[in-house]
Amino acid sequence: MGKLGIIGATGWLGHALGENLLTQGLWPAQDLVLLNRSGPSKKYAAHPGVAWARDATEVCDQCETIVLSVRPEDFPVPGFAPQDHLVISFMAAWTLERLQTLAPKARIVRTMPSGGATTRQSYTPWVAGAGVLDPDIALTARLLSAIGTEDQVENEAQLDYLSALSGSGAAYPALMAQAMLDHARRNGLSDHVAMRAVEAVICGSAGILTRKMAEVGAVIEAYMSYRGITAAGLSAARTCGFPEAISAALDAASAKARSMGRD
Ligand SMILES: NC(=O)c1ccc[n+]([C@@H]2O[C@H](COP(=O)([O-])OP(=O)(O)OC[C@H]3O[C@@H](n4cnc5c(N)ncnc54)[C@H](OP(=O)(O)O)[C@@H]3O)[C@@H](O)[C@H]2O)c1
Repeated sequence: MGKLGIIGATGWLGHALGENLLTQGLWPAQDLVLLNRSGPSKKYAAHPGVAWARDATEVCDQCETIVLSVRPEDFPVPGFAPQDHLVISFMAAWTLERLQTLAPKARIVRTMPSGGATTRQSYTPWVAGAGVLDPDIALTARLLSAIGTEDQVENEAQLDYLSALSGSGAAYPALMAQAMLDHARRNGLSDHVAMRAVEAVICGSAGILTRKMAEVGAVIEAYMSYRGITAAGLSAARTCGFPEAISAALDAASAKARSMGRD
């Protein structure tokens, strides 16, 4: 597999990747080269075999595979010149075209992890740029499996779309939680009761729906079939445009994702 470099290795996502690769035995510590801005960090204290690079030039010289996990505005980092190596980017706004212009010979993969990377619950779609080889595809899948599940998608438009969808993490559940909390408080519930009730809805139902996405329609129809309290609520939500509001949100978010880095 050669050496793997992580640029941004102590950030939230870079560390989630590095730590999970090491603890799951997916990458040997002696083949991991780490770079950040502030120097060697205690975050990797449990893995004394890892190497710390002084700059991106050292990472690019030593590593066949390089993960980019710095914030988009901090890129390009000085000394970044990966030649014909495999570069796996986590960055928003840096399109395949922009990255390829900066590193014309590199084999580039763009990914978009979601929240949950630290606990291996990220869903990470990714797209391969021109010249990416079969072994690169296998290696990318292996690396990303360290932080959760992954899928190769057909093109960058799909990755942009998924940046808006799976990349949103807890945003839309949080929005629904806030609307429910506001409503419960307006109806006289104490904060304590309102928060426990809404948490039961938002977090308690997650397990019920896990691996049930193919059955979501049937789940809703089952609630509707009781013709009871929840059916009345679901009908009102539909009539008031709940599905349309979600569509509008995803349209706006995916348009933003498409425009980033192309303005
Ligand atoms: N967080 C998410 O949920 C998420 C999801 C999908 C994609 N992403 C993308 O992943 C990337 C990283 O996000 P993050 O949340 O992990 O960011 P972060 O926590 O701010 O981490 C940024 C990392 O970059 C390092 N860094 C900054 N400037 C550098 C330089 N010149 N040379 C070397 N290292 C440098 C920082 O080092 P110091 O710690 O020493 O400053 C830190 O390790 C971003 O591009 C983001 O868009 C994040």
